[in-house]
Amino acid sequence: MEKTFLMVKPDGVQRGLVGEIVKRFEQKGFQLIGSKLTVISREQAELHYAEHKGKDFFERLVTFITSGPVFAMVWQGEQVIPLSRTMIGKTNTLEAAPGTIRGDFAVHTHLNLIHGSDSPESAEREISNFFKSDELFEYNKVIQQWI
Ligand code: PPS
Repeated sequence: MEKTFLMVKPDGVQRGLVGEIVKRFEQKGFQLIGSKLTVISREQAELHYAEHKGKDFFERLVTFITSGPVFAMVWQGEQVIPLSRTMIGKTNTLEAAPGTIRGDFAVHTHLNLIHGSDSPESAEREISNFFKSDELFEYNKVIQQWI
């Protein structure tokens, strides 16, 4: 079963959108196996966004993501990586379709509410940057057979 790392960014926490966002992934049929409200360190943020180091938005991104609590999550399910990216919507909020999280709630690209892993390799790296193995819980979900 595929796993992904999703994170409600400081703007989403401040705007009270954690519940709305969790609801969407639950209703889609994905399984939450770990979560925490946390303030991330600069080192953790630089590691998380390492592939973007050197880009003109890197400083702004690291400053933003460390500016307040984030809600970090690990979700599990079939094709959860590409499907959650579709549910999140395009990075550029002008291109984020209605019905997606960014399309419904985000106005600015630099305040785009949520991060989602873009590949299995990123998901593994990002999950281990935020969670210890004993913070993740594998459990049977009785309705899984209907999804
Ligand atoms: S790239 O260059 O195409 O690889 O970048 P992209 O995947 O679109 O975005 C990488 C992350 O940077 C965030 N981003 C920005 N933050 C602040 N300002 C600007 N202009 C900006 N452009 C992109 C974007 O939201 C991505 O973060 P995550 O957390 O992965 O969504």
